[in-house]
Amino acid sequence: MTLKATALAHPNIAFIKYWGIKDETHRIPANDSLSMNIGCLSTRTTVEYDNLLSSDRLILNGQTVNGEGLHRVQRFMDRIRLMTGQPLFAHVTSENNFPVGAGIASSASAFAALALAGTAALGFDLPERELSSLARFGSGSACRSIPGGFVEWRTDPESSESYAFSIAPPDHWNLADCIVILSKAHKSVGSEAGMRQADSSPLQEARIKDSGRRMDLCRSAILNRDFNALAEVTELDSNLMHAVMMTSNPPLFYWHPLSLGIMKTIKDWQNEGLPVTYTLDAGPNVHVICSQEVMGEVLHRLRQITGIIDVLKGLPAGPARLI
Ligand code: DP6
Repeated sequence: MTLKATALAHPNIAFIKYWGIKDETHRIPANDSLSMNIGCLSTRTTVEYDNLLSSDRLILNGQTVNGEGLHRVQRFMDRIRLMTGQPLFAHVTSENNFPVGAGIASSASAFAALALAGTAALGFDLPERELSSLARFGSGSACRSIPGGFVEWRTDPESSESYAFSIAPPDHWNLADCIVILSKAHKSVGSEAGMRQADSSPLQEARIKDSGRRMDLCRSAILNRDFNALAEVTELDSNLMHAVMMTSNPPLFYWHPLSLGIMKTIKDWQNEGLPVTYTLDAGPNVHVICSQEVMGEVLHRLRQITGIIDVLKGLPAGPARLI
């Protein structure tokens, strides 16, 4: 019997961001978050357990990975071994269909696919909630790439249970994410390290305190397909997270000068009546969210901007799945 499975998962873009950890041991985020899975982009991962191996191996986009990249995967595989009670090590082979180092976070789709393939290869058919809960130990945002469409990651304050679930399927709302690539450079401080210094910002407490209100606004905007309401809360949440980053100690400036230029351009387009908004993760690339009806126009306009490297497009996508 071969203990082998392959899974595919999509990255996600958060409208309400996760930035800060409340409980490191149980990987509990400082605030709830809400995102949309991004189709067209995906990670495909095969896990094959092998009783001849004495440690896990990782091949990413055709290259053998050692060092911290491998250790992060090994720590996650240790969790699967603990959870399932089987001791075998595995060959992990993972491929992204988006360019490496394009500044698009791949840890969400990577750990979502690994959670699914790593457990399925052992014959476990975990419920979505357990899989999501497991994936967050690889990377917090990975738990939101397990369910499909529009997804909320919540922590129950009573039980400390923390997992993501879908609030609407991908076809609920015809949104698009036009990802403007401004830099392919590897960021100097990754989100894992960056968010561990969030509490050093005097603004983080206020950001967290108000997060429940923003979650409510964002959820209703999505459920009611209210673009203007979504735009308002999405921009506020992105700006708040970047304000925390910039006021952390040491300060973190993820924006490129053109990131700000594009944000201002988006405001001009909004004033013309175009349903478009922006959000940025821990990097300079701008996620331009718009209605699919105006996606052609938005892509055309974005591609005219001097200094951009590329624009990728993603539509709302389904859950992580076995293939
Ligand atoms: C800015 O999920 O990459 O993209 O849990 O340390 O792996 P770790 O962090 P990660 O952080 C995501 C941060 C963000 C906001 C978001 O996606 O919610």
